[in-house]
Amino acid sequence: MITIALPKGRIAEDTLGLFHKIFKENFIFEDRKLILERLNLRFLLVRNQDVPTYVYHQAADIGVVGLDVLEEHELDLIRLLNLNIGKCKVVVGSEIGKNIDYGKPRIKIATKMPNITIKHFSKKAIAVDVIKLYGSIELAPLVDLSDGIVDIVQTGITMKQNNLKVDEVIMESSAYLIANKNSFYGKKQAILDLQAQFQNIMRIEK
Ligand code: PRP
Repeated sequence: MITIALPKGRIAEDTLGLFHKIFKENFIFEDRKLILERLNLRFLLVRNQDVPTYVYHQAADIGVVGLDVLEEHELDLIRLLNLNIGKCKVVVGSEIGKNIDYGKPRIKIATKMPNITIKHFSKKAIAVDVIKLYGSIELAPLVDLSDGIVDIVQTGITMKQNNLKVDEVIMESSAYLIANKNSFYGKKQAILDLQAQFQNIMRIEK
């Protein structure tokens, strides 16, 4: 049995679609259920940011998660494959018509990604006060909670509709297949087979 943690939403759907193509089976979660077992696979439906935690503690052997979330968690996990889905960018943003004043001794950045934020600005020797938020990050500079934001941009619509612009791209992200280290060695053949099947189906789809 291989246990797979999937992030609720679009990425889980796309990943289950790939499993469907590989195994010629339907993998559909029933109503509000969070576990789905089929063949010798067990899928867990978790919050995006929680996928590394499930895999790191071996509650799941493998998982699918954005590179941005992996970078933020800094956990020791094996990156098996870039699935090239769930593409987005992590950016520094601020209000249109205003620029972040880097001349100030400290700048205030609102984000749900404090680690990526601190790392990015410390490389530039800029002192940052991180204001940790859990969502609606784009609101912060509009009400002077912060000078700018570090957030995810997919289509760019949220930033645009809230009068914000991208100042800098910190990283490009897409979903990766990851594995727990012990699971990888303990279930090596099964995990490598799955990785190869994923590579195969992605090649066919190209
Ligand atoms: C993410 C991100 C932006 C939005 C960007 O939020 O934090 O707010 O998506 O998407 P867009 O560029 O296509 O407009 P999410 O939907 O994860 O919600 P959250 O703010 O509650 O985390």
